[in-house]
Amino acid sequence: MELPAHFPSPVYTFSNNPLTEEGFQLGRKLFYDKRLSRTGTISCGSCHKQSHAFADPGMPVSAGVDGLMGLRNSPALFNLAWMPHFMWDGGVNHIDVMPVAPLTEPVEMDNDLPTLMAYLNSETEYPAEFEAVFGESQVTTPRVLWALAQFQGSMVSAGSKYDKFIEGRVSLAANEQRGMAVFEQHCSSCHQPPLFTDHSFRNNGLGGLHPEEQGHMTITKDSADYGKFKVPSLRNVALTYPYMHNGSLMSLEAVIEHYSEGIEPLANLDPVLSDPLYLSEEDKADLLDFLQTLTDFDFIGHPRFSDPFE
Ligand code: HEC
Ligand code: HEC
Repeated sequence: MELPAHFPSPVYTFSNNPLTEEGFQLGRKLFYDKRLSRTGTISCGSCHKQSHAFADPGMPVSAGVDGLMGLRNSPALFNLAWMPHFMWDGGVNHIDVMPVAPLTEPVEMDNDLPTLMAYLNSETEYPAEFEAVFGESQVTTPRVLWALAQFQGSMVSAGSKYDKFIEGRVSLAANEQRGMAVFEQHCSSCHQPPLFTDHSFRNNGLGGLHPEEQGHMTITKDSADYGKFKVPSLRNVALTYPYMHNGSLMSLEAVIEHYSEGIEPLANLDPVLSDPLYLSEEDKADLLDFLQTLTDFDFIGHPRFSDPFE
């Protein structure tokens, strides 16, 4: 895996799960295989679409088996090897175990692991493919998870116009540079470059929390974490609509309005956002132009990450 020179060291280094081409390709196949769901109709790729940086465009929440809907928006997937925790509430802290949740979640793929392993062991191609990667043909839960981690951990997105600007290969237009200044003043303390997240949990004043939703408090049981969510990366953000943990903001314009005028004085609102920003129309337009420079067209079109069943 090529590590971008302007990124910090990744958290996940494949030290327990040696990265190989066969392992990556096996993980890729598992990621896109609908037969991993109880109904044979939903794969990881059903909710995480490459064309949209592995988010689910237009869907506030995604449809799992039997059309069932969860409570949360499907996040984009990239640069996962740099992430210390996963899920909007931080409920998973290791990429190796991450897929257990969607594979077994009733409103996602609704399978159970023994049934899934029995199926994969009886399938015609998988045992030989597991043998090529792990030296043994037996399909086991840890091996499925390791293969998926090889694919997901290799999804590096660092080829946006912004990255080329940081590498000194292109320049940003005047409006994009002004937008970057607005971003640095109001956004980058949480959405910290180069990953565009500081990996913390915060409340950004988004009203209308679902009654069953507690955010990070679900995990910590600490009321100081009520309504706090993982700061998402803003790389590829132009493609990953709708926005926020519940997908309640449909466009980047709506997000910018939220930060400018719409922040609600909620219990755990982050102090950084306690005063409304009241951005000028020009600042809003420039900020939007800057956010567009974070799209990585190489990543969303890269054949390595595409659906091998198509
Ligand atoms: C039905 C839609 C759906 C399917 C199918 C699905 N996911 Fe997700 N995925 C989601 C949602 C929604 C979340 C956020 C859940 C939360 O925060 O509670 C998520 C979160 C994630 C995350 C965490 C990302 C982050 O930034 O924290 C990863 C990684 C992930 N999914 C990988 C997978 C893999 C691998 C599979 C297949 C085994 C899969 N997903 C199948 C909808 C789906
Ligand atoms: C105090 C920390 C903080 C600051 C400052 C901040 N954000 Fe956020 N941002 C968050 C958190 C936390 C979320 C997730 C909230 C949720 O899902 O309910 C978020 C979500 C977003 C999202 C949605 C991304 C997605 O994938 O759904 C966008 C876009 C965004 N912020 C843009 C901005 C912009 C632009 C600014 C500056 C005007 C900004 N943020 C300032 C913490 C912050």
